[in-house]
Amino acid sequence: MDLSGKSYKAFLERREALKKQYSPEQAEKQHRKGKLTAHERISLFFDPGTFEEIDTFVTPADHPVEFGKVERTYGDGVIVGYGKVNGRLVFAYAQDFTVMGGSLGVVHARKISKIQEMALKMGSPIVGMMDSGGARIQEGVASLSSYASIFHNIIQSSGIIPQISVIMGPAAGGAVYSPALTDFVFMVNHTSYMFVTGPNVVKEVLNEDVTFDDLGGAGIHARKSGVAHMIYDDEENTILALKKFLSYLPSNNVENPPLVPDDGSAQDVCEKLRDIVPDDPNKAYDVKDIIQLVADRNSFFETAELFAPNLVTGFARLKGRTVGIVANQPKVLAGVLDIDSSVKGARFIRFCDAFNIPIITFEDVPGFLPGADQEHNGIIRHGAKMLFAYSEATVPKITVILRKAYGGAFIVMNSKNLGGDFSFAWPTAEIAVMGPDGAVAILYRKKLAETKNPAELKKELTKKYRDKVANPFIADELGYIDEVIDPAVTRKKVLSALNALGNKWVKVPERKHGNIPL
Ligand code: HXC
Repeated sequence: MDLSGKSYKAFLERREALKKQYSPEQAEKQHRKGKLTAHERISLFFDPGTFEEIDTFVTPADHPVEFGKVERTYGDGVIVGYGKVNGRLVFAYAQDFTVMGGSLGVVHARKISKIQEMALKMGSPIVGMMDSGGARIQEGVASLSSYASIFHNIIQSSGIIPQISVIMGPAAGGAVYSPALTDFVFMVNHTSYMFVTGPNVVKEVLNEDVTFDDLGGAGIHARKSGVAHMIYDDEENTILALKKFLSYLPSNNVENPPLVPDDGSAQDVCEKLRDIVPDDPNKAYDVKDIIQLVADRNSFFETAELFAPNLVTGFARLKGRTVGIVANQPKVLAGVLDIDSSVKGARFIRFCDAFNIPIITFEDVPGFLPGADQEHNGIIRHGAKMLFAYSEATVPKITVILRKAYGGAFIVMNSKNLGGDFSFAWPTAEIAVMGPDGAVAILYRKKLAETKNPAELKKELTKKYRDKVANPFIADELGYIDEVIDPAVTRKKVLSALNALGNKWVKVPERKHGNIPL
């Protein structure tokens, strides 16, 4: 090639123009807001030297002259490409707020669609880093339709490749549905926000004053709406956590999650497990202490930690193999199942099932949360999601009943007749139709009303019920669980069950899809 020729010169000039486009002043603008630039995000995310950018030199589409001259920026406000993360192929896009507010025009969207399609074809995860004012106003309906293509691609890839969104600035209007359709959403505290209508519209329509953060900041979405699964205080920590998170997941639905060398420090027989559940059935404890001792040391990565904390979900490893953990948390609302925890659990279970991740359930649940609020808001409909998700999942499913397993909640939490593969119970387990107080009140209502000292009789009957009914041994004798085990051997039992389930194969009836109650 003639290096002094016209075409090579043009090639170099374009590269020079691109360099100038990303000025230090623009970067400074992002930094002042506590944000990184799109390039900085990409280079933090990918293993050094592995990122390959594509469509670098595309330019924006035309728009009507009334909106001014089209800025012929290279790249149209989004960086797209692929590279290695923890040594594995990952596709990503990062919106560049310094170019027309990262707004999504037709060309910008075409770039995203292109790598979405590539990621699906190659069977690799895709990560979207969002920092955008939404649909590009100047491009009108064309930019709206471009969003539709992106949504359609996400839906087509759902359950085939992991799709993760990281919100690192605004996500406003219908644009929020792009992250909402993906599997997991990461947000950054105080610099990212998501809402369908912003504070100005809220003021106009409802005359309510609300800040960006209070309307759609990371804290609100992590605690209240459940839209965000993981939040961190800055972008560096968000990206580092994301890289760790990806290490638990397979690249696609036909692969298994990567096997990580186990340092062997977790004890297969651990006597400490005998001392966590208090003797008093009304006393709380932290189920995460049990998860930490059963899983490989420091391997537990909790998801949606702040949303519905009465149910704990997350990924962990057992001898280096990824498992999904679902656990009632007696420390919060006594571990009861309510609307939010049912939805959280169901979605997590379905993700595990789609991506070949066995599910380990730790059960200590007094039942569904009673009350008009829950009933009126649809605990029947939402609780059904958990049932549906557990039952339809074909991955290995193992339950350890730690303490309470009452009523419908016993059935929901992966009971054997719902399709659970192995069900173990600790001697502290209480398996019955309802808790002792409720049962005695119903069964002995007349007797209690007639007696002179109802409190004493109630105490006596409750003790009798607990001894005779609310224990694991009846279920054991009837075969509704597989074994009552010493808590110390929980990890050993779960590992051996997992090994036994290595070749589990389930034939699913042919149908277009089931109809999970939404
Ligand atoms: C074109 C946009 C833009 C947009 C921002 N910009 N949003 N350009 N289309 N949607 C441009 C601004 O004109 C500005 O250009 C630059 O980006 C930075 O924006 P600022 O407003 O100066 O930044 P900031 O003060 O940080 O405010 C950020 C913002 C605000 C809150 C996101 O820009 C904003 O409210 N934008 C509109 C949000 C919105 O309503 N989008 C449409 C959503 S509806 P200059 O040249 O001055 O630097 C939607 C439909 C999707 O997305 C449909 C899917 C179904």
